[in-house]
Parts: sequence; C-alpha cells; structure tokens
Amino acid sequence: MDAGHAPSDTAPLGRDVHTISDIRRRDVSPFPAFLGRRSKHLNVRRATATVTYMSIPLDDLKPPVPVLEWVGDATRGHLRLLDQTKLPAETVYLDCHDAEALWNAVRRLAVRGAPAIGVAAGYGMVLAAEWLPDGRDFLTGVDAAAEYLESARPTAVNLAWAVRRVADRAAHVVADDTSAIRAAMLEEARAIHDEDVELCRAIGRYAAPIIEQHAGVLTHCNAGALATAGIGTATAGMYVAAVGGHALTVYCDETRPLLQGSRLTAWELAQAGIHAVVITDGAAGQVLKEGRVGMVITGADRIAANGDAANKIGTYPLAVLAARHDVPFYVAAPYSTFDLSLATGEEIPIEQRGREEVVAGFGRVTAPDGVATYSPAFDVTPAELITALITDRGVIQPVDAPHVAAQMQPDATG
Ligand code: MRU
Repeated sequence: MDAGHAPSDTAPLGRDVHTISDIRRRDVSPFPAFLGRRSKHLNVRRATATVTYMSIPLDDLKPPVPVLEWVGDATRGHLRLLDQTKLPAETVYLDCHDAEALWNAVRRLAVRGAPAIGVAAGYGMVLAAEWLPDGRDFLTGVDAAAEYLESARPTAVNLAWAVRRVADRAAHVVADDTSAIRAAMLEEARAIHDEDVELCRAIGRYAAPIIEQHAGVLTHCNAGALATAGIGTATAGMYVAAVGGHALTVYCDETRPLLQGSRLTAWELAQAGIHAVVITDGAAGQVLKEGRVGMVITGADRIAANGDAANKIGTYPLAVLAARHDVPFYVAAPYSTFDLSLATGEEIPIEQRGREEVVAGFGRVTAPDGVATYSPAFDVTPAELITALITDRGVIQPVDAPHVAAQMQPDATG
C-alpha cells in the first residue's frame, strides 16, 4: 500500500484507477490523434514529462483477468490457472490437482512467462507435497518434486528459483509434523505470488519515465500481466505511464510460432485501452526504419551475471535491428530472473520445442509433410546490445558484470 503518498498534482489521471481495464475509462485516448499522420516524428519527447510515478497509487491496478489462484488449504488445495493456449478466443480455467498436471500445464504453455511459471511452480510444490506420504522420507520426496518440476522447461530460471525456495522453506521447518511442513510450503508459495505482484509494480515505476518519452514502443512475445502475477515486466511501465496520462502506441511482434504477441500482448493491452498494433515478426525492421517507435522493450527468461539476457526466440534479431536504427533496447525483469551463477548467456540452457508448433501451428498444416524443423524457443541477446536492464531494484546502465553485481548481489542495497 502506498499509504501516505498522495497522487502528484501533475498526475490527476492516476486517481480512481482500480483495474488495468479502468485505464480505458479515463480521459486517455486509446488512439492518439497523430497516428498515421506524422510517421517521421513519432518519437517526439514529451514536453511535459512531469509525472511523479513513485507517488501514483498502483495497489488496485490488476490484470484484466486473474492468471492463477490457489484454491483451498495446504492439504486439499489445488491451483486454478488461466489456460493461455485458449486466448484470445476463450477465457478458460484449468484446475491442477497434482504436480503432474502442473508440469503438463507449464510444458504446453497453459501457464507461461518466466515469473508466472515461477509462481505456478511454487504452488506445484504444494501440490506435490499433498500427495507425499507422511514420515521420514517426506523431505526426500520434496526434493524429488523440485527436480521433477524444474524439468518442465529449462530456460526460465524463475522456475528453479521458486521450487528451490519452497523446498528450502520445507527443509527449515522445525517440526517432524508433515502438516506443519505442508502449511509452511503453502505460505512460501503465497509469499512468492504476493512478491511478484510487488516486483511488477516496482519495475513499472522505474520503466514509466522511460516509456513516456516515446509515443511508440515495440515489444516481443508477452511479458505482460499474463506472464506474471501482477502487471507484467515489459508492460508494467506501459500501464503505469498510461495511469499517468501518457497515450502510447505499442507495436506487438506477433511472435512465431505460438503468437504470444498477437494472442496475448495485444489482447491484454486492448483490455486496458492501450493502443496495440500487431505486426508480423518480419515487419519489425520496417517499423524501426520508419521511426514509428522510439524504443524497444522486452522481458527476459534468464539474465546472466554479465547482463546477457535470454528471451523468446526473435528477441536477439530485434536487438540487432534496434542497434542498426539507433533505437534504445530495454529489457525489464525482476531479480528472480537473474542467474548470477552463470558468467555469460552462453551457459543459458535453451529449450527446444516440437516440430508440430512450426509446421502445423493451431491445427493448420503450413509445411510439407515430413520436413525437418529446428525450433529453439529462446535466444540470447548480448549485454552490449541492451541499453539498460529495468529491474525492481532500479535501472542497470550500462549493462555489464560490475553494474549487474552492484544491483543484484544479495548484499547489494536495492
Ligand atoms: O514461451 P513463453 O511464452 O513462456 O516465453 C515467454 C517470454 O519469452 C517472456 O518474454 C519472458 O518469459 C518474460 S515474461 C515477463
């Protein structure tokens, strides 16, 4: 709660905002008047960048629909997930009652996006614990569950970070009583969930002053509310800037092969009344060349100690294009996405996806029968191409090992 902070006088639109959808009910045009008329001058710096984002209350800024929710207690509870494979056509929820159901939901991207995977996997540990027999081997079972859940997807470090955090909590409960351990595990999973909401808001506050300098931004994949427990990472600054009264156009790479950009990012931005324009991935160069965007911002699945950042396949070429056109390239991520045990991005494991996603995406055959495919789900953008990392602890710039360490080491002040 931002108790004690009154909204800045320069940000009257920050009042009475309760959900992301409420953004559209305010006096912010979702279709900026200049769109299509001043293609050479879309990147104008706002003359009135006077909003004090730190003082805008964001407590009630919520995702358009709930992404995940724990239902019940630590012995008979289950995890309810929004099935993101069905969006934008249908809003369908999926109940996971055991670790295997959760593993499958993560694997097939029913829940996806690094922070959301982490939150879901934290609860997945509680699901696993529900099925473990009481007794001396309970903690061995907890460790096995962590290893199993980690195997669902290898790239997003938030997954391993969350399951290890819950396992660690279980190991430190001073009681032989397994019901006390289960209760502690649920408490830890809930703490991860609540914390992610706050991390998104913090990122949003740091990103908004950067976003509001531009009328158009470009993003890739979905690093939005659907990918987190809160208001997203790459999108957080967009929502916060919108609350502050900034009218923005967001170009969304559709993001082959599973179309997270068009199915998810464009959908959630539209829910919020933020003007979204879907482009094919191959159109990004032309959009940059025409000066339609003043910055690019993406999320990340894992950031190495030197600042190299893994994100959805297609992010790296976007960073190269941004550099070619002298457009700043930002990566937004919480501390839980940093993996300081890896010196560089070369060490980040890259998930490989199945051929059917490439040759028969969404049921339509688009390649010859039997053709070979190669489908890495992520790529690594080298730190030298990243203008700044926008984190919950502040903005890291320049992006290199000493600056990452200064912000992200456990003993660093945030
Ligand atoms: O395969 P996905 O949809 O899980 O990939 C998601 C991304 O690459 C996101 O950009 C990343 O996880 C950041 S989410 C805040």
